[in-house]
Amino acid sequence: MRINFRIGDGMASKKNKSRAKSLIGRDFISLAGFTAEELYRLWSKATELKRKLKRGIKQHLLHEKTLAMIFEMPSTRTRVSFETAMTQLGGHAQMITPKDFWDKNRESIKDSAGVFSRYVDGVMIRTYDFRDIAEFAKWSTVPVINAYCDREHPCQVMADFLTTKEKKKKLEGIKTAITWAPKSWNESLGIVNSALYAGPKVGMDIVVACPKGYDPDPEVMKAARKEAKAMGSEVKITRDIREAVEGADVVHIKCWNPHEIIRKGLAGLDAITPHRKNPKKYRSWVITEELLEIAKKDVNVQHALPVERGIEALDEILDGPHSVIYDEAENRLHAQKGILSEIIA
Ligand code: CP
Repeated sequence: MRINFRIGDGMASKKNKSRAKSLIGRDFISLAGFTAEELYRLWSKATELKRKLKRGIKQHLLHEKTLAMIFEMPSTRTRVSFETAMTQLGGHAQMITPKDFWDKNRESIKDSAGVFSRYVDGVMIRTYDFRDIAEFAKWSTVPVINAYCDREHPCQVMADFLTTKEKKKKLEGIKTAITWAPKSWNESLGIVNSALYAGPKVGMDIVVACPKGYDPDPEVMKAARKEAKAMGSEVKITRDIREAVEGADVVHIKCWNPHEIIRKGLAGLDAITPHRKNPKKYRSWVITEELLEIAKKDVNVQHALPVERGIEALDEILDGPHSVIYDEAENRLHAQKGILSEIIA
């Protein structure tokens, strides 16, 4: 059974209502449902826990708590960082892969959510379809975390923005260019959508550079423009990669599939997208050292990884002086510790 889901609905379930200020019990499935104040609270917690970890101070805030980690898709960073996060917080993480995951045709998501809620203190889900995460969250009585799907990758963007905050000392007024790049495999718009939801709220300027046919979801753009207007920041799409990179504080390299293809579902998707059909045509979308020269002198280059070296991004960029790709990966751990410790009771 599918439910009609509007972004933000998952945040208003009954387990959320009674805790206006605290984030305890909240689902973390879309950045659309979080205010700037709440996002800063999570980054602040992440920073505190990161500092304590570096000083060797134990931080068993989730002593004997269990996180179920449900993966329908493969992962390196998400799996390792969440499991490590739970260990460092004094709890435990359980890995549930497609072998032992619910079969949606055999057992409803409602029943799975009801059962998981009786065993564990939080559920992290990586799945092909955001609607499955939303439905799980609807029935779960413990917090649910979106760990990537067709629609959003909120944990990654929390780590990306934490990295920017650390390097640039602020988020407001920062220009982030999200530059599309070709790749040989399929990717969702998750990072782009989550960045578009969160960036304008914290006063970040976001310029998305992409080829025709690759524009982000118009509904997400509409929400982002509304937030940007309220904050006096800018959100735009351009076909000119130079316009996006010029004066940028952060260049985030990212491949994604056309929105219209993603809308049809990532499950089993092996779409031969325009860039996979004709890769040569898209070579001009690859960031070069020469192009980076028009960005700010201290520009940071981000990539969420895994990256297809030589196709999506060049070694000279990924291994160059502006790259912060491993800081971003490390910050998955700290950002998620912030989230877990704030939402799990
Ligand atoms: N960036 C990211 O989510 O990496 P994994 O797919 O390895 O988890």
